[in-house]
Amino acid sequence: MRYLIQTWGCQMNTHDSEKLSGILEELGYAPAESVPQADVLLLNTCSVREKAEEKVFSHLGALRRLKEQRPGMIIGLCGCVAQQEGEGIFRRSGLVDFVLGPRAIASLPSILEEVQTHRNRPMDLGRRDDSIRFDGARARRAPGTKAFVTIVEGCNKACTYCIVPTTRGREISKPAGAILRESAALAEQGYREIELLGQNVNAYRDGDVRLDGLLRMLQHIEGIRRLRFTTSHPAHLSIDIMRAMRDCPTVCNALHLPAQSGSDTVLARMQRGYTRLRYLDRIERLRTLVPDIALSSDIIVGYPGETPREFEESLLFLREIEFDQLYSFIYSPRPQTGAATEEDGVPMAEKEARLRELQSLQQGIQRKKNRSLIGKEVEVLVDGLSRQGQLKGRTRTNRVVNFDGDPSWVGEFVSVRVEAAGPNSLEGHRIARVGS
Ligand code: 5AD
Ligand code: SF4
Repeated sequence: MRYLIQTWGCQMNTHDSEKLSGILEELGYAPAESVPQADVLLLNTCSVREKAEEKVFSHLGALRRLKEQRPGMIIGLCGCVAQQEGEGIFRRSGLVDFVLGPRAIASLPSILEEVQTHRNRPMDLGRRDDSIRFDGARARRAPGTKAFVTIVEGCNKACTYCIVPTTRGREISKPAGAILRESAALAEQGYREIELLGQNVNAYRDGDVRLDGLLRMLQHIEGIRRLRFTTSHPAHLSIDIMRAMRDCPTVCNALHLPAQSGSDTVLARMQRGYTRLRYLDRIERLRTLVPDIALSSDIIVGYPGETPREFEESLLFLREIEFDQLYSFIYSPRPQTGAATEEDGVPMAEKEARLRELQSLQQGIQRKKNRSLIGKEVEVLVDGLSRQGQLKGRTRTNRVVNFDGDPSWVGEFVSVRVEAAGPNSLEGHRIARVGS
């Protein structure tokens, strides 16, 4: 019996797919090479923007022929669309055999058995603490240098554009002991980098242990040379966390801190809980404590009623901060969110033009920042081969670097001199192998 999982969305979802794979392999399933070979096909979906959600249903449409030819093939719909649409999925598509929410991952064996024995169409959306209790050691992680470890599930914020509190539920933290055990096992398996995951990792709490305490504890795991955590919330990024970043040698000097907008009036309408000045203050403190930190962010353009002036404020903000990397999106109305009913008034063509302008500004900033690294030496953890057959890896600041070298160096740390730079990656030549 073979399985295949198709994944959309964020790192949380990628890691959920690893957990689902682990469960299927415990049940004796082997990975399939392609969709037609799969006996069980799981679609692990994302609903953060409408487009991501539409893609799932058009994808299902494309599977119709295959399912007619192979009626025994089981199709399960998992992830955030599953949680959000629930029973509605069965009405929208006759191809789906079961629906499994992101909190109900551990129920996969029983739900599969129900489909196989009773041939009905079960659904499980899980309980609040179902997924945080899942033992991450069961995940079937892709072999490589970096492993994800979930530390917080859910989100207690109420940003008006965001569907995540609906799909992932209230915040809940994983016990620190479980995180340490899982991380130590990953080090033993040869992983050198760990990325701690949560919708709002700054909210981590297990008794007295907060994120800063957790980072300090994770320093003692031999073999883990790099530690990252995502996603942070600007209103919750405490000085204690910044100090832990400064003090802990394995914590990378990179931080993803979604701002969403550079305009105070838009931030207030989004209910983000901070102002532009407060965000700038966080960054200033962070840059003082961790001088060479690389910052990345998310920006939404065309939030309902965003005026040209409010948009200009976001541009100004990007010029002021000069992020090392930026993910930008056109606002997409989501059901059951506060902003869905807000008056919009900004035409789509205008939103698209704003996105283009913002992205071209940011490309210039990234090109300039990356060029300033030419001639410098960077430490690269080699994670694979590029399409051109070069080695590729990442710096501690999370920049992609391509350079010539031996494929046997994958998994090693190499010191590289930067020779050329584009907006999204660096090129260089190796100076020395630093070890594994
Ligand atoms: N429309 C557009 N972008 C959104 N994001 C979240 N919700 C929406 C939405 N409704 C963006 C935010 C978030 C990132 C993961 O996706 O910028 O940080
Ligand atoms: Fe998409 Fe958000 Fe769900 Fe991640 S948590 S899969 S980004 S909707």
